[in-house]
Formats: sequence, structure tokens, C-alpha cells
Amino acid sequence: VAYFDEKKKLLNKHFLVTAGPTYEKIDPVRFIGNFSSGKMGFALAEELAQQGARVSLVCGPVSLQVQHPNIERIDVVSAEEMKQAALEIFPQTDGAVMCAAVADYRPKFPATEKIKRQNSDMTIELEANDDIAACLGQMKKEGQVLVGFALETRDEQANALKKMKRKNLDFIVLNSLQDKGAGFGVDTNKISILTKDNKAIDFQLKMKTEVACDIVDQLASCF
Ligand code: CTP
Ligand code: CA
Repeated sequence: VAYFDEKKKLLNKHFLVTAGPTYEKIDPVRFIGNFSSGKMGFALAEELAQQGARVSLVCGPVSLQVQHPNIERIDVVSAEEMKQAALEIFPQTDGAVMCAAVADYRPKFPATEKIKRQNSDMTIELEANDDIAACLGQMKKEGQVLVGFALETRDEQANALKKMKRKNLDFIVLNSLQDKGAGFGVDTNKISILTKDNKAIDFQLKMKTEVACDIVDQLASCF
């Protein structure tokens, strides 16, 4: 047992992982959301647990199941609920990986009754959700590691670097859109890791489970 334990990179550590989309209510039966499947976040949670860590996985609505017994799953629906859960858990952790595709906006006046169809256009007024990663970045204590993701359609590296600074992240995982096999819904991803000490590491297109290993290796190197 000791032999195997020694090879685990994150034994006795505790991490928060956010995953999946968030749903923002328009009325009791409709929402604003996105196509995030949660696969990358779940793969990360599994790999962290494989490396000996305890994981609190805060996830939006996804159709995935947790495998490892050291992963505690906390289901939420909206960005606001995700923020509440994350703020509560983060102080007890060694760090967080912010993998969720959080809706940037929510309907300002969600209807309590189902909105009836009218033969005219309609407008939904939206208000901004809080930036959960940035909130954690402000709370971050010495020794905690905070990791974020970025998906950009132009000036990828420059925009990702700005995001890393703005949110006080230790490194940021840039999802490449250059490849059809990367991103939402699919089982593969192509990433670059940009670190706060200005390193850029490019990885090949691979399975999200293998991408998770690369990200967890980088995370382990931060301790
Ligand atoms: N994030 C978050 N809370 C939000 C929005 C984003 O925690 N309300 C996190 C994501 O989980 C991700 C990182 O911040 O790790 C970057 O998300 P992204 O949507 O790329 O960045 P934004 O700051 O929302 O910028 P934009 O969507 O305008 O590019
Ligand atoms: Ca966003």
C-alpha cells in the first residue's frame, strides 16, 4: 500500500472543482444555458481523486455520474447557487479548478408563471452574474492554488493572460478552437497551459481523461 501511496501526487489534499453549465431561469419551465457537458470537469475530479485528493465537485445540470468514492458531488442549477456553494467550500481547500461554463447573465425578472406566447417579438432583460473564479481569486490564501479555463475566438493567448491576471489565477487552461475535436460535448480536447510566471505549454489533441492528467500534473507542481 505504501508503495502505491507514494506515487500519488496529491495525497491528503482537498480541491474544489466546478463543472458543467448553469441554467438561469426565464420562467418555471424555461432557462438560459449553454452546451457544456461537464465531461472535462468530471474527468478532472476523477484524476484528482486518483492522485489521492478529496474532491468537492460542484456541478450544474449534467447527465454524468461520479465514480470515485473520494468525490463529493454538490448539484446546483444557477450561477448564484454555484457561487454560494463555491464560497462555502473554498476556504477549507488546498485549491480550486474552475471548469464550469458559468452563464455570464441571468434574466433580471424571472416570471413566476409560464410566459404565454404572443404573436409579437419579445425581449428578456438580463443582469450580470458574479464571476465566481474572481471571487475565489480575492479570497485566495497563501498556499492555495487557483486554476481557470479560457475559451477565446481571437487573440487567444493575450485574452487568456488577461483573464488569469484579472481572476488572480495561478495558471489558466486555454481551450483551443483550432481543432474540431476540441470543446463542448466531445470526448477530446486540445489545450495550452499558461502560467503566472509566463510559461506556455502546448499539448496535443487527446482524450479529456488524458488532458485531465496533464492539468493535474501542472497543479501538483504548484505545491
Ligand atoms: N468563471 C466563473 N464565474 C463566472 C464566469 C466564469 O467562475 N461567472 C470562470 C470559468 O469557470 C473559467 C474562467 O472563469 O474558469 C473563464 O471563463 P470565461 O467565460 O472564459 O471568462 P469570462 O470572464 O466570463 O469572460 P468572457 O466570457 O467574456 O470571455
Ligand atoms: Ca463567460
